[in-house]
Amino acid sequence: MKVLTGFSKLNITERIDLLKKNVNLNEQQISLLTAFRENDKDPDGVIENLTENYISNYSLPFSIAPNFRVNDKWYFVPMVTEESSVVAAAASAAKFWSGQGGFKSEISGTKKSGQIYFSWNGNIEKLQSMLPLLKEKLASSVKSLTVNMEKRGGGITDITFNPDHHGNNDYHIVNVDFDTVDSMGANLINSCLETMGSELVSFINSNFTGTDREAEIIMAILSNFTPDCLVECSAECSISRLSEISGNLTPEQFARKFAKAVQIAREYIPRAVTHNKGIFNGVDAVLLATGNDFRAVEACGHAYAAKDGNYTALTDIEISGNRFRYRLSIPLSIGTVGGATSVHPMARLALQIMNNPTSGELMKVVASVGLASNFAAIRSLITDGIQKGHMRLHLNNFLSHFNVNESEKILVEEHFRNKQYSFSAISDFLTSIRGNL
Ligand code: MEV
Repeated sequence: MKVLTGFSKLNITERIDLLKKNVNLNEQQISLLTAFRENDKDPDGVIENLTENYISNYSLPFSIAPNFRVNDKWYFVPMVTEESSVVAAAASAAKFWSGQGGFKSEISGTKKSGQIYFSWNGNIEKLQSMLPLLKEKLASSVKSLTVNMEKRGGGITDITFNPDHHGNNDYHIVNVDFDTVDSMGANLINSCLETMGSELVSFINSNFTGTDREAEIIMAILSNFTPDCLVECSAECSISRLSEISGNLTPEQFARKFAKAVQIAREYIPRAVTHNKGIFNGVDAVLLATGNDFRAVEACGHAYAAKDGNYTALTDIEISGNRFRYRLSIPLSIGTVGGATSVHPMARLALQIMNNPTSGELMKVVASVGLASNFAAIRSLITDGIQKGHMRLHLNNFLSHFNVNESEKILVEEHFRNKQYSFSAISDFLTSIRGNL
């Protein structure tokens, strides 16, 4: 196959035609592309313009987890995920904790930073002595970009110089801190950093002589490491209240096993990663529903989990006397204005369902969903095991794959009530009953 050029310049029909020729799509497959495009059509064509080379939409279920009580405010939380048990798990934990006073969530702030990395062999001491002037020049070079952010109470909050980061004058870093208030602000931060990079080069050029005038920007980019956007979320109850959810265990046995499961996740990386994945099951589902960048949040969350040199669980437990307290610390750099949050009609609706929270409020809700998801996962793991609930929900996927009708569904559910099942076991069973129907 030869290299294609101009794919992005084609219209949708032309792109599909080209695809059809190159990968042998049949009419049924083409209809699927059309059906999903028409099904999810939004009146303003916003989805189409979110990326390049668009040909159709890819639907995921948009669900609601009710009963999220966070700092005494109740939320219906929109969640978008393909994993069948995630919403049910979050919703069941939310319901339990709502009866114990709900989640308490606090944020440390919404500070984000970005860096300008540059090569330069000039006189560092002289540049350091000129820092106040340099900072002023850098900040004023982006005034037109930051004016709106300043009106909303944010802006550039600090500029610092980290000379000779690597040694041997290899490269230097200018660090810029931003408060982007309710927006995640990635585009704005990157625009500011690129403009400041050019200003930095001009500044050096006009204030130094000879070879000291030559600075080269390596790159200017925001950092997705946002430990200053930390959310601390906790849920607490007396151990006896755990009897509502402890299954065959006594509440004391449940609390002890739960604490052991958390200890293992704090001490052993193979478990810590899966434990944290369970937190992100909930976190990502709300971020997707609200049009936030879940990749940035995940990257930061895992880096934060390793901040002390050992990757560990993002949650911790405290059992003292008859109190059970479970808490999560997670950095969440997210927004409620700008980007997909403002343009994607379903993301806008998701925010409306939550009564248009500020970014700080959304951070608190998202952390609560993360804690609820992880609590529900550990609860299943130490009681019935994860497969019972998973497979029950997974059964629906199997049933729709086999186009099962209502009477067949009843027979399948009865047959597998107390049995382990798999795709092939259901397929065999359906073959046997379909032969007999
Ligand atoms: C599955 O998506 C997530 C879990 O594996 C998380 C965990 O093990 O804690 C159930």
